[in-house]
Amino acid sequence: MTVSIETQAPPPPVAPPRPANPVTQHDFLLRHKHGKDYRQLDVYRAAGGYKAVKKALTLGPDAVLAEMKKASVRGRGGAGFPAGIKWGFVPKDTSKPKYLVVNADEGEPGTFKDNYFLSEDPHRLIEGCIICMLTLGIGTCYIYIRGEFFKQIATTDAAIQQCYAAGILGDNASGSGRRLDIHVHTGAGAYICGEETALLESLEGKPGQPRLKPPFPAVVGAFGCPTVINNVETLATVPLIIEHGADWFLGLGVERDGGSRIVGISGHVKRPGLYEVGVGVTLYDMIYGPGGGVLEDRAIKAVIPGGSSCPVLTADELDVPMTVDGMAKAGSMLGTCGIIVIAEGTCLVKCLQRISHFYAHESCGQCTPCREGTGWLARILDDLEAGRAQQADLDVLLDVADQIFGNTICALGDAAALPVQSFVRKFRAEFEAHVTHRGCPHDRIPLPRATRV
Ligand SMILES: Cc1cc2nc3c(=O)[nH]c(=O)nc-3n(C[C@H](O)[C@H](O)[C@H](O)COP(=O)(O)O)c2cc1C
Repeated sequence: MTVSIETQAPPPPVAPPRPANPVTQHDFLLRHKHGKDYRQLDVYRAAGGYKAVKKALTLGPDAVLAEMKKASVRGRGGAGFPAGIKWGFVPKDTSKPKYLVVNADEGEPGTFKDNYFLSEDPHRLIEGCIICMLTLGIGTCYIYIRGEFFKQIATTDAAIQQCYAAGILGDNASGSGRRLDIHVHTGAGAYICGEETALLESLEGKPGQPRLKPPFPAVVGAFGCPTVINNVETLATVPLIIEHGADWFLGLGVERDGGSRIVGISGHVKRPGLYEVGVGVTLYDMIYGPGGGVLEDRAIKAVIPGGSSCPVLTADELDVPMTVDGMAKAGSMLGTCGIIVIAEGTCLVKCLQRISHFYAHESCGQCTPCREGTGWLARILDDLEAGRAQQADLDVLLDVADQIFGNTICALGDAAALPVQSFVRKFRAEFEAHVTHRGCPHDRIPLPRATRV
């Protein structure tokens, strides 16, 4: 989902504060520029596809798990938990069946990367799933795809059927001597169904409401059985690690955060789109390098670095490496690497109002602070934008956000609170101006649309 933001009267163009450092773009994962149709099994195989499965069978489960741990691949779904360590939590000896569940819900505003694998390179994901299943003794995998992704559901399902026909899945899958099955499960069309335990509830046919943790899904997951849940990009990265080795993969990124990953840039940039870069490139270099800088050469007012739930950063806070730890140190989060750039001249109250309405709409209603609080946030922001708010409402806004944060079963409450806390604390004067001017002090003039690459 990309984000559009209305703006006020255009400010004059400015030069970027300094030139961006060169950013090396990779095409290990993002291969659409090759002009080949990787959805076709023969094309995928001709490019070396499914060789990593053969290698995984030769190496054996213990060696594959060791490579995954060494590669330090942090989960690409938002929380950044190391995938190898998560795989290691799955019990080896259990009488229960084990499951792999792929999180293909991709609902966070500003995030549109998993879509690429599902629609353009689904075999890459399937290959990663097969390696995971062989490594952890899993027989069944469900790919839970957002319900509105009609095209992606069809392309992924077609790729799975090609695999059954070719003996890659089914009995004696890929010559492993084991039966492996992968099913596409159509999601319920709610943001909360991307939260891993709500996703499991939904997969089991129940309303998508999060479970308390512990127990964690690796021990008690789908249908009460041990379950690995990984994001699409996390699993699509696995064949690369097995094919080239953990050392090669680590070398693309930084210590404790290996590899290359896909960064999405949207908002007020000249070249919005997806870019594959080594982990650790700075936010500033991404925006002024691949992103092409700001539309109309405006100054940057604010940047949301990893999807709409991440705390906002100011223009002075962009020299930060795009790593899980680097972003945390800067007071924000890497999230899904979905950068949203907000140009000077944008009304941040309006911007936050839209974000807050999204979270209020998507709250599942299970926890009172989130169910009631997200509505309060949205209504106070409506009042601010419409000129009905008083100064004291700003403190109420922060108070409500502070009381939601950390007080809910899942992180949707935090996702709603964090933008409010950071926008209001970092740009308080603009919020106060909406009170003194009795509404938004500017007329909004939209920026021209950028061409998506
Ligand atoms: C409200 C909410 C929505 C989420 N939506 C997604 C999503 O759409 N896709 C995703 O992969 N992870 C999503 N997550 C994170 C998942 O709960 C989980 O951490 C992730 O699927 C684990 O995969 P990974 O370790 O490979 O990143 C969401 C989390 C929350 C709290």
